[in-house]
Amino acid sequence: MKPIVYWIEGDGIGPEVWRAARPVIDRAVELAYTDGRHLVWQELLAGQKAFAATGSYLPEATLAALKGASLAMKGPLETPVGGGFRSLNVTLRQTLDLYACIRPIRYFPGIESPVKYPERVDMVVFRENTEDVYAGIEWPAGSPEASRLIAFLRDELGRAVEPTSALGIKPMTEAGCKRLVRRAIRFALDQGRRSVTLVHKGNIMKYTEGAFRAWGYEVAAKEFAGQVVPEGQESCPPAALIIKDRIADAMFQEVLLRPEAYDVIATTNLNGDYLSDALAAQVGGLGLAPGVNMSDTLAFFEPTHGTAPSIAGKDLANPGSLILSGALLLEHLGWREAAARIHQAVAQAIRQRTVTVDLAAQMPGAQQVGCAAFGDILLHALEA
Ligand code: NAI
Repeated sequence: MKPIVYWIEGDGIGPEVWRAARPVIDRAVELAYTDGRHLVWQELLAGQKAFAATGSYLPEATLAALKGASLAMKGPLETPVGGGFRSLNVTLRQTLDLYACIRPIRYFPGIESPVKYPERVDMVVFRENTEDVYAGIEWPAGSPEASRLIAFLRDELGRAVEPTSALGIKPMTEAGCKRLVRRAIRFALDQGRRSVTLVHKGNIMKYTEGAFRAWGYEVAAKEFAGQVVPEGQESCPPAALIIKDRIADAMFQEVLLRPEAYDVIATTNLNGDYLSDALAAQVGGLGLAPGVNMSDTLAFFEPTHGTAPSIAGKDLANPGSLILSGALLLEHLGWREAAARIHQAVAQAIRQRTVTVDLAAQMPGAQQVGCAAFGDILLHALEA
């Protein structure tokens, strides 16, 4: 009834988008329920604000609180350039084992889209967040490490690699792939979704991407027997969740040509990175794209954009992505009525064509409003 939500303000446009977003999220809960439930917000420091207060960009106290938390939400965090500074976002993902990056992608009527039928897109991408070529294990061409590895591959494993090559490693584990697919299937079942599509490049990378496909089907068959069916066997039993797979390149065609045939997508790190941005573009850009990174214990919600330094402090930012991340948090809690109010309010503001500059630029004749005013418009629209 009163879950604690740890929140991190974030850098750049973080403070202004939070100022607009939080009242909208809280009011949606207040309007949807009369039983006294509400979110209990507790601030944690990270980024510039943390550095100013403690001398550390990511204080131990923040990490300790997040390790014991089940719900958190953050604004964008700047990665200072130079000095070997490690991205705070990557540090948070790795330290907290946030292995699933989840991005729902849906269309709000009125937004300019580059495709003819953007309303046919309603997908949720589950992207593996910790493995694959993102592990950061790579060496520059001509480096001593690359030369040693090339010699090892030649002498020990009999594989010839061009000596001037740069090299990278693509580790993928059974446990890592399975937990991602398991989560996607559970989500699809909980939400009454129609299908889960495993997206991979297993025709070329048989033992990594191909294994992702095989492990995915294995999880489906062993752990969800009776609840799921492979594509092609849809009639037995009826209404079960369909599990299918597509090769990544074909999938990029499919989401353009037949988006209505796809629902929940479970995929590897690099495929998921490309696919979620491409899908966001298909429905009109990243401006309204919410997201969440999850471990087995923590759901950490965040807008998908960065700190937008060139517009920070100018009341120009769109708080929509943070507000919709809040709606995602409410859905995660099972507070669907409150989440639906937020979606309805955003849809109404877009229909009325009163939007922030990023959306106005894509909507001929739209009235441009500031970040705070857009928050107020949503607050009023919530009452409807
Ligand atoms: P960015 O997302 O901050 O900006 C890209 C473009 O989108 C800019 O033109 C910006 O003005 C615009 N934009 C972004 N969010 C907007 C919003 N809410 N309303 C209106 N316009 C918006 O990406 P960029 O420039 O690559 O990164 C800037 C900083 O943000 C870097 O330090 C980067 O490391 C960090 N970053 C942090 C992320 C996170 O915390 N999850 C994600 C992406 C970047």
